[in-house]
Amino acid sequence: MKQTEVEFQNKVALVTGGAMGIGEGVARLLAERGANVAIVDRAAEAAHSVAREIIEQGGVAQVITADLAKAEECQRAVSETVRAFGRLDIVSNNAGIQRYGTVESTPESVWDEVMDVNLKSVYLVCHYAMKHLKATRGAVVNMASVQAFGTQQNVVAYATSKNALVGLTKSMALDHARDGVRVNCVAPGSVDTPMLRWALSLDPDPEGLQQVVNDMHPLGRIATPREVAEVVAFLASERASFVTGATYLVDGGLLLPLGGAPKAEK
Ligand SMILES: NC(=O)c1ccc[n+]([C@@H]2O[C@H](COP(=O)([O-])OP(=O)(O)OC[C@H]3O[C@@H](n4cnc5c(N)ncnc54)[C@H](O)[C@@H]3O)[C@@H](O)[C@H]2O)c1
Repeated sequence: MKQTEVEFQNKVALVTGGAMGIGEGVARLLAERGANVAIVDRAAEAAHSVAREIIEQGGVAQVITADLAKAEECQRAVSETVRAFGRLDIVSNNAGIQRYGTVESTPESVWDEVMDVNLKSVYLVCHYAMKHLKATRGAVVNMASVQAFGTQQNVVAYATSKNALVGLTKSMALDHARDGVRVNCVAPGSVDTPMLRWALSLDPDPEGLQQVVNDMHPLGRIATPREVAEVVAFLASERASFVTGATYLVDGGLLLPLGGAPKAEK
């Protein structure tokens, strides 16, 4: 058996947004590698179907249905995880939403909605989880985006939330380094998930836009959730024992090209 197949044996992971997309990829991968996984999501049906499949494949998973935009549900997600499994080693924060708008067109309610889910829920989950993570010398992995570094037009709230998540990651990493808790962040380019498919569907030519998005990435395609989950698993594991406060790009080279650089013909 490979070392990676057992590296999370006896570890407990709380995975937000675990019902779909990147979070689902993380939940499945950590479970495959031996973790007991709490899938925390507001999409109850999808979460149960992921948990069922993990269990059918010999893993351990439990669903905690929660709307992480609400503080009391963030608190309950942590306490139910610890009640179910007796400890907490890994927090993987993936729950997120995308909303479009400029500073002029974004209503306050939408700004608040994006900040509550993408940013405040991470603060709240970590606020309640930290004492348990200190006890196990655990790890947090937050899901930011390339939009923490570069940005597109018309995503003011989303891009701001992802920038702030990188800052929150660094602050938590520094504050809790001596507690033995590592806190890192992942910044993906485009990933094949329900969120991305929804974003493409808003365009009059979704297939044409899909091609454009593929071509934007120097590797010529978008990522699978599993490819992002692999980096989360690394950062959550002992293999990353000297990594804290970092943000790992998982973007197929998306942020590499200079905007004005001519494209070389091959
Ligand atoms: N897909 C991409 O291209 C991409 C790129 C960069 C970053 N990201 C980030 O990765 C994370 C996951 O994105 P995804 O593409 O898998 O999205 P997704 O929409 O496919 O999945 C998000 C999951 O979060 C859950 N969720 C949303 N709001 C919630 C709430 N209030 N309470 C509980 N659960 C909630 C959803 O039910 C869903 O299961 C997000 O933070 C997103 O910003 C995605």
